[in-house]
Amino acid sequence: MTADKILINFSQIFCPIDKDRPLKGKEMSQATIIENGYIAIKNGKILKVDSGEPEKNLVGEHTKIIDYTGKLASPGLIDCHTHLVYGGSRENEFSKKLNGVSYLDILKEGGGILSTVRSTRSASFETLYDKSKRLLDQMIIHGVTTVEAKSGYGLNWQTEKRQLDVVKELNHNHPIDLVSTFMAAHAVPPEFEGDGDAFIEMIIDEMLPKVKEENLAEFCDIFCETGVFTADQSRRLLTAAKEMGFKLRIHADEIDSIGGVDVAAEVGAISAEHLMAATDDGIKKMSESNVIGNLLPGTTFSLMANTYAPAKKMLDAGMAITLSTDSNPGSCPTSNIQFIMQLGCFKMQLTPIQVFNAVTINAAYSVGLGNSIGSFKEGKIADIAIWDAPNVDYPLYFFATNLVQDVYKHGELVSK
Ligand code: NIG
Ligand code: FE
Repeated sequence: MTADKILINFSQIFCPIDKDRPLKGKEMSQATIIENGYIAIKNGKILKVDSGEPEKNLVGEHTKIIDYTGKLASPGLIDCHTHLVYGGSRENEFSKKLNGVSYLDILKEGGGILSTVRSTRSASFETLYDKSKRLLDQMIIHGVTTVEAKSGYGLNWQTEKRQLDVVKELNHNHPIDLVSTFMAAHAVPPEFEGDGDAFIEMIIDEMLPKVKEENLAEFCDIFCETGVFTADQSRRLLTAAKEMGFKLRIHADEIDSIGGVDVAAEVGAISAEHLMAATDDGIKKMSESNVIGNLLPGTTFSLMANTYAPAKKMLDAGMAITLSTDSNPGSCPTSNIQFIMQLGCFKMQLTPIQVFNAVTINAAYSVGLGNSIGSFKEGKIADIAIWDAPNVDYPLYFFATNLVQDVYKHGELVSK
């Protein structure tokens, strides 16, 4: 008799509370923690999560039982901010950084993002595909089952499209689900040097309609930062993108606070990202307009700065927050979301429950998938990270070690 159900036993199950929207402020400190429980799965979806003796219909001959006694289960982790697809690497900037040269100065000299633009423009589809696939392979063994991936290392249509095509193809072929973000407004390319306005107009008139027509991305994003794009340019691009039906995100307050957060609130962005330099006023605006604060402590760490985003202040103001890697070759070369979660505790004083909520339920809403992933609510997709840890505190306390043992995606074992 073939099994049509799976029942998996755990010592502890982290169940985010699912309110059909992101958890805000104090809600982020809450979760249902089930001791000695089980997750029942049917057709790749969550059937039931509970403790104690499972009902008879869950344990008969039609059920495959898997035992993970001693282990912790959480929803599959969602990395909701990555620059996944790029050519080359930037370890040559590392010694400059160690000598105190700033990120924006490296960019001003034609390095930084622009150096990766050169490598990406000269890389073939196959090279980019293989490189990005390797990154996804690393992410999945750390418990990640969904990834948001931005373009933005082409800055011309040919290469932006190549990046977006890589994401589309990987979404078909890799167990990780991908959410695509169009981010040509990542830097001003050499062809438009000194004329960011003209570049933004070109993106609006020529690139955005093609991205829409070919259905290559759901989100549009822009880097609103000193020396990159202004708040006005960000407003113009995101307003046009919204009119064309894109959902919106914005890189705001990463290094300087120049109005990106105001734009996020005005245009109704789902998420404002980075926020290391967020102000009290900005936090109030994001809270009032339900903009999720996507915090990327790995970037602060990698930029060798000490300005971690004020996560606790944001929670006190009633904001919803997420955490993500920002995986990219410059400001955060990593694939390890667990380290980012640990920085959330060590550097932002978040609790393990707040951190797990940030990378599951809230991250799901931030990529527009809150109704299908991010919690163990009945009917959601059975994406599960299984931790070699007895409880939810352990993987945050025992740092810099991959503690994810197995990963299930759509109810199937995809990483062991
Ligand atoms: O999110 N801030 C802009 N973009 C990336 C960095 C990309 C790079 O340095 O290549 C970020 O940090
Ligand atoms: Fe980024």
